[in-house]
Amino acid sequence: MTEINKTVLLTGAAGDIGTRLRPLLLSRYSRIILSDLQEITDLADRESFQKGDLVDKNAMDDICKGVDAIVHLGGQSVEGDWDTVNHCNIQGMFTLMEAAHQAGVERLVFASSNHAIGMYSRNRRICVDSKVRPDSRYGLSKAFGEALCSLYADKHGMRCLSIRIGNVADKPLDLRRLSMWIHIEDLFQLIQIGVEHPDLHNEIVFGCSQNDRSFWDNGPAFRLGYRPKHKAEDHVVHAMTNQKETGPDAIGDNFQGGTFSSAEFDGDLERIRWS
Ligand SMILES: NC(=O)c1ccc[n+]([C@@H]2O[C@H](COP(=O)([O-])OP(=O)(O)OC[C@H]3O[C@@H](n4cnc5c(N)ncnc54)[C@H](O)[C@@H]3O)[C@@H](O)[C@H]2O)c1
Repeated sequence: MTEINKTVLLTGAAGDIGTRLRPLLLSRYSRIILSDLQEITDLADRESFQKGDLVDKNAMDDICKGVDAIVHLGGQSVEGDWDTVNHCNIQGMFTLMEAAHQAGVERLVFASSNHAIGMYSRNRRICVDSKVRPDSRYGLSKAFGEALCSLYADKHGMRCLSIRIGNVADKPLDLRRLSMWIHIEDLFQLIQIGVEHPDLHNEIVFGCSQNDRSFWDNGPAFRLGYRPKHKAEDHVVHAMTNQKETGPDAIGDNFQGGTFSSAEFDGDLERIRWS
């Protein structure tokens, strides 16, 4: 791949996706700044590390200096209590975004989540224009992040791409993930669109590979040039074998968000059937 001269900041670099992404970012961009709460020591040439909490304004101001684009993965990546979600994903993302704006960072790619729209029925095929329908405090924080991107794009001209990631893994893990799995190489393709596309203003796309059972119409991603290479159905035996071991979830199996949708759910399924 041709290397291009850009400095990319990767937040949440010590996490699962960050670790998978590092070699792909290195194959394309000239300088990568890794950031996380957890120390990273196995640095490659052209990688550097700066430790920092997303809510620490001084640390974020420092980290954003000289950066062309941010790939923002850092934060709470599953459901949590409100204080944790608020700290990492609301206050943390706001602090990072403001620091990025003050430092003149041109672009931000945001790791949003399927859980921003997890209360939709699995029988609905939705597009990014469908209203948000969070399935958790975590999903709500992702809807906030998408709205923050919209604000900074419209008010300040930051170019933003929110990727509603389904699930990153080597193979789809179960029936639900056959609809929303994404291979890291396909995710990297979407990230490249966020970092490089000349006409990007503010877009939301679904982060899924070429999945025949997708719940989502990913037209905006395809219009931006996304051409996923990996197919969930190539791993159908693996996914269905795991699914048998997991067993049913009477509430969660109705919803795109799965167990995030059924957690803390009380009342009657009828009340949400099935707008
Ligand atoms: N893994 C998936 O399939 C998936 C699906 C949908 C969305 N996402 C989103 O993608 C991103 C990365 O996911 P992941 O699976 O690698 O998560 P992860 O939990 O493995 O990594 C998140 C990283 O963020 C860091 N972090 C947490 N709070 C922080 C703070 N306050 N300041 C600085 N760093 C902090 C953690 O130390 C961790 O290394 C997350 O934002 C997640 O919500 C992931």
